[in-house]
Amino acid sequence: MIRSLLPLGIALLSATSVLAEPPACSLTQKCPEEAPCCSQYGQCGVGAFCLGGCDPRMSFGLDSCVPAPVCQDKTFKMDSLDRYKDISEYLGDSSEADWVGQGEPLLYNGNVLLTMAPKSVGTVLATTTYMWYGNVKAKIKTSRGRGVVTAFILFGDVKDEIDFEWVGTDLNAAQTNYYFQGIPNYDNSGNISVSSNTYDNFHEYEVRWTPDEITWLVDGKVGRTKKRSETWNATANQWAFPQTPTRVQISIWPGGLETNAKGTIDWAGGVIDWNSDEIKNYGYYFATFGEITVECYKATSGPGSHSKKSYYYNNIAATNDTVIDSDKPTVLKSFLGSGTNMDAGGDTPGGTAAGASPESIPGGSNQPGQVPGGGGSSDRGSSTSDTSSAAGCSTTGFSQTCGQTLGGKSGSVRGAERTLGASALAVVIGIAGLLFL
Ligand SMILES: *[C@@H]1O[C@H](CO)[C@@H](O)[C@H](O)[C@H]1NC(C)=O
Ligand SMILES: *[C@@H]1O[C@H](CO)[C@@H](O)[C@H](O)[C@H]1NC(C)=O
Ligand SMILES: *[C@@H]1O[C@H](CO)[C@@H](O)[C@H](O)[C@H]1NC(C)=O
Repeated sequence: MIRSLLPLGIALLSATSVLAEPPACSLTQKCPEEAPCCSQYGQCGVGAFCLGGCDPRMSFGLDSCVPAPVCQDKTFKMDSLDRYKDISEYLGDSSEADWVGQGEPLLYNGNVLLTMAPKSVGTVLATTTYMWYGNVKAKIKTSRGRGVVTAFILFGDVKDEIDFEWVGTDLNAAQTNYYFQGIPNYDNSGNISVSSNTYDNFHEYEVRWTPDEITWLVDGKVGRTKKRSETWNATANQWAFPQTPTRVQISIWPGGLETNAKGTIDWAGGVIDWNSDEIKNYGYYFATFGEITVECYKATSGPGSHSKKSYYYNNIAATNDTVIDSDKPTVLKSFLGSGTNMDAGGDTPGGTAAGASPESIPGGSNQPGQVPGGGGSSDRGSSTSDTSSAAGCSTTGFSQTCGQTLGGKSGSVRGAERTLGASALAVVIGIAGLLFL
């Protein structure tokens, strides 16, 4: 649901007064050389735009995006925010942070709460390393309320995606979905019923992903399986099956924002109530995340391997035989850099990366509003149509329709409805990057 972010993004932008609107990007409209990286949200820029979520197919060149840190087996206890960095502070060094994000993550009772304050677009966190097949499981208590969505997804730079999502009006089910390169297909979703209320109780949600199959489990029990062999697309002559490296993304986002498309609002259970008991009692909507474990796929070479440092794509087809497990560096010197000029800005005082102050980065750390909680792509509608998305983008700076695909909601929306939150972040950063230019 990227879309939800727009209003906020716009507000922020105007507040910061900075901005030139970053150019929009899509499969048919690549980024210009000066702002070469196409963010997850479909906006061009440098710096953070070139890190997690940067789509090489829509960027100026395949090498515009910064190579992505490879998979690491890891258990995140989620009992501290020491290994979390706001997107305005992260330059690609995954040894410094496990999670990068936007919004307001908080610690409560030894768990991480992702919060969504009134009129905000929520919070999204993504891992700094990428999973290329493998297993990931998380202990989660979802949010509740009309229009409030919790997400736990795998989201790749070329928009391969595997999802768990919960809408706040249905606390007895988990919705699952998957996408190949962000192409919407409303037959890809499926529901799993959960044994007890997902808001009051922790349940363990797990995705097991191999080159041949995706399995979604709840509390250790298989709830759904999708085989690659069931996904042949004869028109495209390829498997419409997720097959490239992805980041684990967790989020809370407002599917029910009034400005969202009707299909998205309906899917999310209605327009959000910013005067609900949840808001009165706590000041925000929230979802609770306990331990999260990533287990990398066991491959020593070829698809699924993680024996070197970073992944990059050597072909725009972006299928699993075009991903290279390499020794290329992953860290920018500053927010002026990109994949083809990673040291840019490194010598300029003040240009050093993480050095940008929050004030100089629209959307910088203290702006809860910006984060797109959206899951990954939740709305997919737009992704598809490049033109329309581009148009949407240009009007606003970042629009939901621009860029992305959203998570694809269920059938309701088909088009363009959800954009994700994440993009908003990227946009923000991109803008910061542009400013420096
Ligand atoms: C999943 O559940 C939601 C909410 O009850 C419903 O709208 C949707 O159609 C269901 N999806 C499938 C694939 O059954
Ligand atoms: C991806 O890689 C695996 C392992 O090499 C292979 O079996 C599979 O068919 C490949 N293609 C797709 C579309 O997943
Ligand atoms: C199959 O591929 C074509 C061409 O890329 C695409 O337009 C179509 O949406 C795909 N069909 C499905 C069901 O994914």
